[in-house]
Amino acid sequence: MNTDWLHTLEEKLTRLKERGSFRQLVPTSEAALPWLTRENSRLLNLASNNYLGIAGSNEFIERTEQLASACAIGSTASRFIIGNHPLYEEAEYELSKWKKTEAALIFGSGYMANVGIISSIVGRGDAVFSDKLNHASIVDGCQLSRADHLRFRHNDMDHLETLLQKSPHKQKLIVVDALFSMDGDHANLHDLVTLKERYGAILMVDEAHSGGVYGATGGGLVEELGLNDRVDIQMGTFSKALGSYGGYVAGAKPFIEYLLNHARSLIFTTALPPYIVASHLAALQIVQEQPWRREKVQVLGERLRNGLEQLGFSLCGSESYIVPVLIGDNHDLLLVSESLQAAGIAAIPVRPPTVPRGEGRIRLTVTASHTEEDIDWAIEQFQRLPLVGRRELTP
Ligand SMILES: Cc1ncc(COP(=O)(O)O)c(C=O)c1O
Repeated sequence: MNTDWLHTLEEKLTRLKERGSFRQLVPTSEAALPWLTRENSRLLNLASNNYLGIAGSNEFIERTEQLASACAIGSTASRFIIGNHPLYEEAEYELSKWKKTEAALIFGSGYMANVGIISSIVGRGDAVFSDKLNHASIVDGCQLSRADHLRFRHNDMDHLETLLQKSPHKQKLIVVDALFSMDGDHANLHDLVTLKERYGAILMVDEAHSGGVYGATGGGLVEELGLNDRVDIQMGTFSKALGSYGGYVAGAKPFIEYLLNHARSLIFTTALPPYIVASHLAALQIVQEQPWRREKVQVLGERLRNGLEQLGFSLCGSESYIVPVLIGDNHDLLLVSESLQAAGIAAIPVRPPTVPRGEGRIRLTVTASHTEEDIDWAIEQFQRLPLVGRRELTP
């Protein structure tokens, strides 16, 4: 048997290890709780996207079980064959009401939603204008679409406008994360809406990290800013604040019907299990009934940011419950990450290519199931770290 290709892979892996970029899986239990268990240690969980604390709550589990009563586990086929359980219709109706749009559609995951939406609505001769810090699933959707992929500097509206002015393309799609996953800052949605109207573009907003938390009913940043009528496509995921799994998109009826007929990541895959769709309905109820969850996560996020800023850490412009602590070099980053783990904190070291070279960071995330004491304890652990990543403090 020819094993040359395996040796080539091993050499590439060695180079990754030398650069401190090698990734490994670590078994983790109780990830949906504020404290988790990893390698027999109990760690403060500042690594999940369970922003509202719904994933681990008994109430969520009980409501899902009630809604899903007697559902089979597998959906057995794609939605176009026999996988379209009646719960889908109910969940999509509730989703469109929540998003204040004509229609909505559930995908297998947020990744599949982004890839399917973008590659359906633009193609050769069109252009996608995408923020440089957009999530990888958006980047992959752009590439798959074969449209020109024009990336503008992060949140730089002048740069975007220059690209739009020069664009000879038939169809123009602007796409942004509403809350950037690795920086914790917001897109300039007011400016984006103005630009898309000025240049006749379509605007797509990915609410993966903001959905459930922003807005009076948790509808997202678009709702919070009162822009529902002016944003064409609202995409999101059930896998973060909504505590479960799956992706969604909300918008006008012809757009949703078009996706049903064109989105390959919807058509050529097995439908999500009905049990999971029941969990979508349960999550939508909890999100709308319990505003305390979004208020609490924002307050705790601010508490963590203030504490770390006072210690001299740079937080990459974060304005949310996603709090990235800039460290820089990969080796320093791994050192800090190991020290945090030894101190009792589970936090994610984020390395290139997920973030630009030299901008490695520890990404901390707060949830509504944390307490003020948890946050203050975490800040104390950061105070004890070696001085890596901190600016000199002026007395
Ligand atoms: C901005 C953004 N969009 C989309 C996704 C993909 O969502 P999912 O995890 O549901 O595939 C993610 C998450 O990882 C994300 O951060």
